[in-house]
Amino acid sequence: MTTLRLLCAVAVLVILNPANGAPADGADLYAQFCQGCHNNNAAGLQQFTGSIEEFQGILEGERDTTMPDFYGVFGPEEVAELYRYIRSPEPG
Ligand code: HEC
Repeated sequence: MTTLRLLCAVAVLVILNPANGAPADGADLYAQFCQGCHNNNAAGLQQFTGSIEEFQGILEGERDTTMPDFYGVFGPEEVAELYRYIRSPEPG
């Protein structure tokens, strides 16, 4: 069981590693990192009208909220995918 979990964790890391050339997917990233707090349909975030720079700033903890700091977690492509996802009219 523990080994299986470890394998899963490694698999997820490999999949999320931008270096392997797999395209980042906003919906997947959102489901994994954001959904627990922001709902499974990006509720509350569709009103987010800030720029991508502002969005990145929020992820990097520049704004003082209780949201966890995702500094260094996402590459530029992943930030762009997440940004696109939360701003699309019907995410998912
Ligand atoms: C542990 C809970 C939690 C997680 C996980 C989380 N957030 Fe948040 N998020 C918050 C809280 C709390 C706020 C602050 C709301 C406020 O202060 O108005 C917030 C605010 C935001 C805002 C600003 C909303 C606005 O209208 O100004 C954005 C954008 C955002 N989160 C995106 C994300 C993304 C993308 C992820 C995943 C990478 C994520 N959040 C993960 C709790 C979380």
